[in-house]
Amino acid sequence: MQTGCARARAHPSLALIKYWGKANAEQNIPATPSLAITLGGLSTHTTVRVFQPSGKMTEHSQPEGEQDYVFIRNVRQPVRRFEPFFSNLRRELAKERKECPFRFLVESVSDFPESAGLASSSSGFAALTAAACSALNWNISARRMSALARQGSASAARCFWGGFVQLDAGAAWAEPAAPENWWPELRVIAVMTSRSPKSMSSRAAMEHCRETSSYYPEWLRDSGRLMSKALEALQQRSLDTLGPLMRQSYSSMFATMLSANPPVLYWNPLSVEILRLCETLRSAGFSVWETMDAGPQVKIICEENSVPEVIRKLQSLPVQPEYRISSAGGPPRVESCE
Ligand code: PMV
Repeated sequence: MQTGCARARAHPSLALIKYWGKANAEQNIPATPSLAITLGGLSTHTTVRVFQPSGKMTEHSQPEGEQDYVFIRNVRQPVRRFEPFFSNLRRELAKERKECPFRFLVESVSDFPESAGLASSSSGFAALTAAACSALNWNISARRMSALARQGSASAARCFWGGFVQLDAGAAWAEPAAPENWWPELRVIAVMTSRSPKSMSSRAAMEHCRETSSYYPEWLRDSGRLMSKALEALQQRSLDTLGPLMRQSYSSMFATMLSANPPVLYWNPLSVEILRLCETLRSAGFSVWETMDAGPQVKIICEENSVPEVIRKLQSLPVQPEYRISSAGGPPRVESCE
């Protein structure tokens, strides 16, 4: 029997200073601090239906519902990936409600490619958390939702505030670092160099780096230093200071991947071409910086007045990639369930 339904929209969280590695794998607690911008130009929409375990499912599946169901773009997902999230949600809810026999039917779609290095797991788990809490009629703080979403994906913990958000090493939830209107000129141009799903999940890749890269301890040491300088640069809204810190963060993160055994390689030739394009623009005097995540996509960060030149350069490439422009976005929004 269905007992509640809600729909939520969340924007992905793009790390300027990267989280890469876990202090506690079971709890999904980050080993490095991260600083991110919420990307207003990209969204994930998720509908959550809550039902009793004995209740009938919807048209998607006939069996009696003893488990949770997740569909992304109408494709059923292996429930294993979502189980830590749902188990934790039920555990937390049971602390406040005597019994929590609920199961969830989730349908999610993003307006950008999923699992391709565009942070869809962040917006996905954030929208799922916001919709699930609303469907359960469970009014909890953004911090608490951030901690619930963290179980699914640590980057999702950063999606509950607009603007700029930080997640400290060892922290259970994220905290706002600067509001949505803090840096109105800042733009992120997400350049899609491939629409294929990534070769290895970020969860598997970061564990592999921790286990096999001799550079990994160095990375953990460096990330704290980068974070405190980046927070200062954000307070000053200085892209000339923040840019090199962002570059160091993503290139050091990739250094742990390249020094892993066997190495993890997400880049493709077009990714490298875009990195070079940013370098050329910097040599020409533009403050244009890039970052990358566990995938081949390149996110270009610059101020509004540099955007036309970046676009001109992208359009002059032999293979013209798709791109999406974002300013800082807001927190998740719960919508009605039709
Ligand atoms: O939260 P996850 O498991 O999707 O990992 C995110 C890792 C990076 O995107 C590479 C970095 C980050 O801080 O978002």
